[in-house]
Amino acid sequence: MTSTVLGLSGSLRGESLNTKLLCAAAALAPAGMAIEVTTLHGVPLYDGDVEVQGMPESVTTLAERIAAADAVLIVSPEYNYSLPGVLKNAIDWLSRVKPNPFAGKPLAIMGTSPGRFGTARMQYQLRHALLFTDARVLTKPEVMLGGAGQLFDAAGNLADERTAKLIRSQLDALAAAIAEMHRVKSA
Ligand SMILES: Cc1cc2nc3c(=O)[nH]c(=O)nc-3n(C[C@H](O)[C@H](O)[C@H](O)COP(=O)(O)O)c2cc1C
Repeated sequence: MTSTVLGLSGSLRGESLNTKLLCAAAALAPAGMAIEVTTLHGVPLYDGDVEVQGMPESVTTLAERIAAADAVLIVSPEYNYSLPGVLKNAIDWLSRVKPNPFAGKPLAIMGTSPGRFGTARMQYQLRHALLFTDARVLTKPEVMLGGAGQLFDAAGNLADERTAKLIRSQLDALAAAIAEMHRVKSA
């Protein structure tokens, strides 16, 4: 049976290097895994008054897609040593949805930036922001890619075999976590 992974980009930019990385991961998915590429366009700013009137449809739809997936893959830039506001905002909304769409779900993180640190600082802050969600965030291998501008060719395709190998190895770890989740659920 094919497992589904909802891939969320933390960038809204049309030419986003992180969305390109997410697309590259989707193309490198192991047999039996399908990764859907999604952005967070359309999610409004969190507002408790809006929540009281009813969850926005964009949030409900996103939560349903997460709940229906076997796992989540977040690929995000680093902004000011942290996670982009759009991503934190989406996590804030999703943390208010009942039942919790992330509960027990394997979740992997990747990111790339033009500088040397490859989103490392963002990734540890993202792990912190995800604690309350009860997602099972993978610890290894970490995919923190510096030199983002050199990773892709003119057509936007991943052009670095070492990076492809690292992505494959994280996706294999995600596949193993999905299998373990199903084993525990059916036990
Ligand atoms: C508001 C803002 C803050 C940024 N802060 C960082 C940062 O802290 N660390 C870093 O490596 N790059 C930082 N950058 C550069 C981004 O890594 C770079 O613009 C990247 O291409 C954005 O990701 P995207 O291509 O997926 O949209 C920042 C960019 C913006 C717009």
